[in-house]
Amino acid sequence: MNVKRIGILTSGGDCPGLNAVIESVVRCANQNGIEVYGFVSGYDGLYTNEYKVLNYSNVKGIGRDGGSIIKSSNKTNLFNHRKVDENGNVTYADDSMVAVENLKKDNIDCMVIVGGDGSMTSARDFKRAGINVVCVPKTIDNDVPYTDQTFGYYTSVCQIAHAIESIRTTAYSHDRVMIVETMGRHAGWLALEGGLSGNADCIIIPEIPYDLSKIKDYLVKRYNDGHKSTVICVSEGAKPIDGEIKATINNEYPDAVKLGGIGAKLAVDIEREIKNITGQEVRSTNVGYIQRGGDCQYFDRVLSYEYAKVAVDAILSGNFGVMVSFNGHKTELVPLEKIVGNGQTGETSKGGNKNVEKDSLLLTTAKSMGIYFGD
Ligand code: F6P
Repeated sequence: MNVKRIGILTSGGDCPGLNAVIESVVRCANQNGIEVYGFVSGYDGLYTNEYKVLNYSNVKGIGRDGGSIIKSSNKTNLFNHRKVDENGNVTYADDSMVAVENLKKDNIDCMVIVGGDGSMTSARDFKRAGINVVCVPKTIDNDVPYTDQTFGYYTSVCQIAHAIESIRTTAYSHDRVMIVETMGRHAGWLALEGGLSGNADCIIIPEIPYDLSKIKDYLVKRYNDGHKSTVICVSEGAKPIDGEIKATINNEYPDAVKLGGIGAKLAVDIEREIKNITGQEVRSTNVGYIQRGGDCQYFDRVLSYEYAKVAVDAILSGNFGVMVSFNGHKTELVPLEKIVGNGQTGETSKGGNKNVEKDSLLLTTAKSMGIYFGD
């Protein structure tokens, strides 16, 4: 196929490196005489047909900046499209053909979809509808299977490590237990690597359910051993051995589960357990959206450039319906069905399912260094 024009969209929660992917896709494509349309606000842009023509002049150097110059949306599923009329009535419809027609009208030969599992599920569905797609895995959570590391993860780890380092001094000054909550959904990568590099004393991740009474014993012993302050890094998806994950359901989008709040809950639970014994107070801080923002770190910029380069190579060689991946030191093109499954068209995100393994070097290193995991 003689590719003349491609589109790109960024979809899902924003993530450092999105602009670097855009920059590299545009520069690599233009080098091969291919035009690039940047569709605005993720899949919404395909529906409204709103795009910007991207070229060297408007992308050169944007790789440093967080966010996405073409914006992102993390709710739109055109195969089950939610719309609200003037009376506030909500309807759902399959509007994917509007996007397909727009892409045909604009002569787009292939779409580069930069997103996580939900966005890649829609990409699979567009492939079924006859659109050529190539996906680049995006998420700070690093939970996309079949690839070693998603771009944006490293920058987020740096933000978390920096937050923990800042909190250590105030923990020390007040002899407190300080809790730092990270994102990560149901995978503990961010808390584990952020906690390890930021020098947390205890790390709590979804893969290892925690036992409150054992955390109490650990903190009391630590205090009696002369360590009057402790920093705990907890992942938003962590749960107690005998309880539930901390989450709220978004009523506007009933299938959207919003994780968060475990840090604040743990602070109350731990203080109740230890205050009478050690006299320590417990405070909690949520790193929140700071871990998704700021400048993209150099490592992530290059990783993003590489992902995008391989995506453009895939397009040039006619390999569609795939996700670009890095496995070991090799690049691979993984069929989308392997990443998101072969379910029904229109389904929503099931969540990434690459978790921290019990024997991973990252986890065993942290354990060997004496970091406690709350179990
Ligand atoms: O998937 C990335 C992520 O940052 C998760 O770690 C977090 O749970 C979620 O997005 C928050 O998303 P939102 O932008 O919808 O609040």
